[in-house]
Amino acid sequence: LFLCFSSSLSLVRNFNEEEGEDIKRSQFPDGFFFGTATSSYQIEGAYLEDGKTLNNWDVFTHRKGNIDEENGDVADDHYHHYLEDIEMMHSLGVNAYRFSISWARVLPRGRFGEVNPTGVSFYNKILDNLLLKGIEPFVTIYHGDFPQELEDRYGSWLSPQMQEDFLYFAETCFKSFGNRVKYWITINEPNLFTDMSYMRGKYPPARCSVPFGNCSAGDSDVEPLVVMHNMLLAHAKAVKIYREHFQPKQGGVIGIVVCAFMYVPMTESELDREAANRALAFNVAWTFDPLVFGDYPPEMRHYHGSELPRFSPEEREYIKGSIDFIGINHYSTFYTKDCIYSSCILGGDRPIRGFVNTTGERNGVPIGDRTGMVAFFVVPRGMEEIVNYVKERYHNKPMYILENGYSPPRQQDVQVQDLLNDVKRVEFHKAYLASLARAIKNGADVRGYFVWALMDNYEWVEGYSLMFGLYYVDRQTLKRIPKLSAKWYNSFLTNSSHQN
Ligand code: NOJ
Repeated sequence: LFLCFSSSLSLVRNFNEEEGEDIKRSQFPDGFFFGTATSSYQIEGAYLEDGKTLNNWDVFTHRKGNIDEENGDVADDHYHHYLEDIEMMHSLGVNAYRFSISWARVLPRGRFGEVNPTGVSFYNKILDNLLLKGIEPFVTIYHGDFPQELEDRYGSWLSPQMQEDFLYFAETCFKSFGNRVKYWITINEPNLFTDMSYMRGKYPPARCSVPFGNCSAGDSDVEPLVVMHNMLLAHAKAVKIYREHFQPKQGGVIGIVVCAFMYVPMTESELDREAANRALAFNVAWTFDPLVFGDYPPEMRHYHGSELPRFSPEEREYIKGSIDFIGINHYSTFYTKDCIYSSCILGGDRPIRGFVNTTGERNGVPIGDRTGMVAFFVVPRGMEEIVNYVKERYHNKPMYILENGYSPPRQQDVQVQDLLNDVKRVEFHKAYLASLARAIKNGADVRGYFVWALMDNYEWVEGYSLMFGLYYVDRQTLKRIPKLSAKWYNSFLTNSSHQN
């Protein structure tokens, strides 16, 4: 298959012809990590095997009416195909792989029960086989899925008790896997998951603090702030334990990853410019400011006042500086409009999201090509811009792009052949990589880039019809088939003097 794609590969052009350059691996520093990424619920399946209990997503997707009957019960059945999947990565030529640990597989009852040895052994096998192939594991401890018992007992992230459960889970991971894992990511996209789960009611536990889609506001609108506060403290406590008891011997590093869209002003007006800055503060700095400087962004404090939780002096001590690196998931750029003086789409007259309206269109013209994710547009320059924002605000702390990817617009009756011939995805990665290379050339300390995703998988509430993979997965046979983009990634990684 790789061979029959090679002729179409030469037809691929960059999204933005002005960028022109044919991006090469040699434009990235020595030792740079190039990988692919996945998460447990989205690929593993085997949802009730070998001691795993139901997690929040199992329960949510099984509830009638949620998500058109699609779920992660089988997903890509990675639980039974992991060896083949690692072989696939090896054939791509990547030197890193980012994946997450299923909490309910390793600790089926959280801290209220035993460690599940079969769950631990599954991840042991993954780690051992990755290392055998020379692929560096980047492990996300929590990527959206946790044992349902923690929701039922005390309301999961709304309660400070979740900090203790997370700490227990993280410690179990450090103990079991830390001798082989040198790159830990505590939590995936706390900002986005908080927004989807507690603001817009789209992800479990589907709570709504603002009217959105089928979601009528009703739950307290400080919930998202409380949830983030618990997540940040959970992160910082886990890092404290890691640094005190594991890092000295194991010698790894630990960080967190946020969903980092780029926000640009809708117009040249001062108000819109300030709005774009607020959008960045309320989305990106909401997580990183506390973890780097020890407190929430002043922009948020200004608008939320006393409803934004406070860290005690003792908490501040250990939360400040609690990341060794900054993780960025970057997909899209949005126009941003001030709505302090007009109505905000989300939050009404509340400061939620910083009194901004964001959109991908200006006067009916989209900011970039559309993708399958309705709100995401292809804007390669956004990569350089978001990296520069983070570089400036956090004094060029080491950064990793832990996700970047493209899903084509959904088409009715699409042929598999068309999905495999994913010219647009190749263009997307080339253009975003060229943009990243510019940021690095200008001094940004970025050390890795991960394609979301290794293979098509369960895209949360969007189900299986959004496809981000370098590999197509036949939903009937679960056979993995390389797309043109897999061939491209392989040639990008191997046709260069820098083999790392
Ligand atoms: C970010 C999330 O981490 C991942 O779970 C999701 O599938 C991708 N974005 C694509 O939307």
